[in-house]
Amino acid sequence: MILKYLLVITTFLVAVPTMLFAASYPKDAVHLDRNKVPAGCSTCHLSFNFKSGGGPETCIICHGDPSRLTKEYKNMPKRFVPMVKNLKNIEAEFVKTYRHPTFDAKGSHRSNEILPETDSRMPRHAECVDCHNPHYVTRENKFAGIRGKRVGNVVSSVTKEYELCYKCHAESANLPGRFTNKRREFALTNPSFHPVEGEGKNTAAISLLKPYKEKKVNAGDISTISCGDCHGSENSDSPRGPHGSLYEHILVDHYSKSDNLAETPFAYALCYRCHDRSSILGNESFRFHALHIQGRGGSTGATGTSCYTCHNSHGSPDNKYLIMFNKSVVSPNSQGQLKFVEKGVSTFRGECYLSCHGVDHNPKVY
Ligand code: HEC
Ligand code: HEC
Ligand code: HEC
Ligand code: HEC
Ligand code: HEC
Ligand code: HEC
Ligand code: HEC
Repeated sequence: MILKYLLVITTFLVAVPTMLFAASYPKDAVHLDRNKVPAGCSTCHLSFNFKSGGGPETCIICHGDPSRLTKEYKNMPKRFVPMVKNLKNIEAEFVKTYRHPTFDAKGSHRSNEILPETDSRMPRHAECVDCHNPHYVTRENKFAGIRGKRVGNVVSSVTKEYELCYKCHAESANLPGRFTNKRREFALTNPSFHPVEGEGKNTAAISLLKPYKEKKVNAGDISTISCGDCHGSENSDSPRGPHGSLYEHILVDHYSKSDNLAETPFAYALCYRCHDRSSILGNESFRFHALHIQGRGGSTGATGTSCYTCHNSHGSPDNKYLIMFNKSVVSPNSQGQLKFVEKGVSTFRGECYLSCHGVDHNPKVY
């Protein structure tokens, strides 16, 4: 009993002074809206640690399997029952094979940490609160109040989705060796990149399906895309966001990266969402696309190779057309050269110096 009073008193001691800060929270902050979360601050702060934030478990009481609020957790304190019914089940996304390690690396988040991480020994993690600030989040801006955009030595608030991702997928000192710096791949100064930070450089991406366009001319044209257009749930009915997917790399659609396989709509489904399959296999840009993608056996063979053998999925700091050869399939030619040389803009001509499938390209010209 005494313990309970102490708890209430300490909660007030903490909550009341901090209430003063509440003035700076956005007016439409969903969790501070009594019509949505009736018990206010004490919903999440009655008896938990302010430093760790209680981990993803606090969030999934409301954003998880609906049974948590009903039968399974019959004794769930009333304060957790939100006024908004049928919240999407985010928890289900994290049960999928490919997911952010939100539940796999719990307890590593620190409320005062500054990302990108500068200490290579810090454990990698991605908790709900690394991507969503519970005090600031609004229906329109799910990253509201997230700090992490580094400009020089100043760390300001994230306003774009990619800035959120760069907190952990760019300069992080603890980035695992097999991963690359995404800010470097998407830089607008590169010869080519998928148009995430801004419009792309290719003015003749002839395979583009509507409404995608190289440059925005008409109102309906889409000339920039987001990480979320490729990374997210494989199910379009699932909640938005890169929480989890049945496809590798948390992709919204299937993408095979292997060599020696048959071309099918499924194999490269991700790319064919925006690039017309019949244009690619019709060799409208690269004269030998079909030969490589389907292999020598044509549409019936199984000796084709993935887009990934020649194209980086994000951007290429060295070449146009996202060319970046997959070195586990492509090797230097008989002269020890491994490079791509472009021959004029929008001419669909170039040269390759490399060796692949036992064929010496010294060079091969198109
Ligand atoms: C939906 C749950 C939720 C609600 C409602 C909520 N908080 Fe929090 N609060 C959190 C979480 C989670 C953290 C930890 C954040 C972190 O570690 O990054 C936190 C952290 C804090 C902190 C520690 C410093 C900081 O900002 O990281 C303070 C102070 C705080 N909350 C005050 C409040 C006040 C005051 C209210 C009501 C106006 C409130 N909270 C409502 C979930 C909530
Ligand atoms: C008491 C229940 C409750 C808890 C606990 C809770 N939320 Fe929410 N959350 C809500 C409600 C209600 C909304 C508003 C949904 C709406 O407006 O349709 C919301 C909205 C959101 C949104 C915006 C989504 C949208 O549909 O626009 C995000 C993101 C979010 N919450 C993340 C979190 C995170 C992260 C935590 C844990 C720190 C958390 N929530 C804890 C009830 C809760
Ligand atoms: C707080 C840190 C953090 C943030 C922010 C973050 N991630 Fe991650 N992400 C991770 C961690 C940790 C992993 C597990 C692998 C690793 O350590 O890189 C991961 C894994 C991934 C993977 C799977 C990689 C693979 O090959 O299995 C993808 C894809 C990904 N993140 C995309 C994104 C996108 C898109 C965003 C922005 C919307 C984002 N991440 C924001 C920490 C983060
Ligand atoms: C969400 C839509 C979308 C998806 C999915 C997509 N692309 Fe693209 N892609 C674009 C847009 C838009 C451009 C045009 C950029 C420009 O004009 O520079 C583009 C351009 C390209 C280019 C030419 C870039 C240049 O600068 O010359 C290549 C190569 C490419 N994509 C390959 C792929 C591959 C491979 C995949 C599958 C892994 C894929 N794309 C998936 C939208 C997409
Ligand atoms: C053998 C290497 C190779 C493979 C495999 C390959 N490409 Fe390409 N691709 C190229 C080259 C070279 C160009 C540049 C053509 C030029 O000079 O304009 C190109 C250009 C492109 C372009 C930009 C022009 C356009 O058509 O809009 C897209 C998009 C593209 N490829 C998508 C794909 C997709 C999708 C796959 C897999 C299904 C794939 N490529 C497989 C070599 C390859
Ligand atoms: C056009 C689709 C597309 C877009 C846009 C895209 N990705 Fe990816 N991403 C892929 C594909 C395909 C793979 C798997 C093949 C590979 O590793 O390149 C991948 C792999 C990854 C991986 C794991 C492998 C690695 O190289 O680290 C991470 C992390 C990642 N993406 C983060 C991001 C972030 C962050 C953004 C936005 C800034 C983004 N992606 C935008 C298609 C995309
Ligand atoms: C790596 C970053 C990351 C992590 C970790 C993460 N989210 Fe998200 N979340 C996003 C992004 C990005 C979006 C999509 C924003 C958009 O496109 O509208 C999103 C969307 C959402 C939405 C709105 C979904 C919809 O369809 O409207 C909710 C609710 C949400 N997240 C809750 C959570 C909860 C709860 C957790 C932890 C269990 C969590 N998120 C973990 C990045 C993340």
